[in-house]
Amino acid sequence: MTETKAWGAKDFADLLGQTGVFVVGDASSYALGRVIFDEVELLTIVTDPALQKQGLGRKTLAQFHATAQKMGAATAFLEVSVENSAAIALYLKTGWQEVGKRKAYYHLQDGRVVDALVMSRSLAE
Ligand SMILES: CC(C)(COP(=O)(O)OP(=O)(O)OC[C@H]1O[C@@H](n2cnc3c(N)ncnc32)[C@H](O)[C@@H]1OP(=O)(O)O)[C@@H](O)C(=O)NCCC(=O)NCCS
Repeated sequence: MTETKAWGAKDFADLLGQTGVFVVGDASSYALGRVIFDEVELLTIVTDPALQKQGLGRKTLAQFHATAQKMGAATAFLEVSVENSAAIALYLKTGWQEVGKRKAYYHLQDGRVVDALVMSRSLAE
């Protein structure tokens, strides 16, 4: 996803109707993923701003890893803005590592263009 506008209910409904797409968590913190063969993409992870930095993101990500593994994924991928230090901190603390960079990937609504990090994590036991 290279657009940075907020996701609406229709975006979620459309995505959840697609093969391999799943959600874990609840209204406090949730993650959305898509399994294709033996790979899973983390499409988004969000914790309610009022509840951040209390371990919910970590818990949701663990659920994401376990669910994706049960669905047959062996490797996980994600893209994250180089400016999203909270998300990058969460990923680095949960076994993900940087495997590449996409130049000028996000086109922000204020006109700025920002690089993305590509990160990966093995889901093997
Ligand atoms: C990224 C996000 C999901 C983290 O959720 P969270 O519930 O606050 O995460 P946790 O409390 O489980 O934190 C996990 C680790 O990340 C680190 N972390 C979280 N937010 C941080 C921040 N703002 N700055 C630095 N480190 C941070 C914590 O230190 C924590 O490590 P610890 O357990 O060793 O203390 C949350 O900030 C968020 O919803 N951001 C907006 C949406 C977003 O950008 N999603 C990712 C891209 S789609």
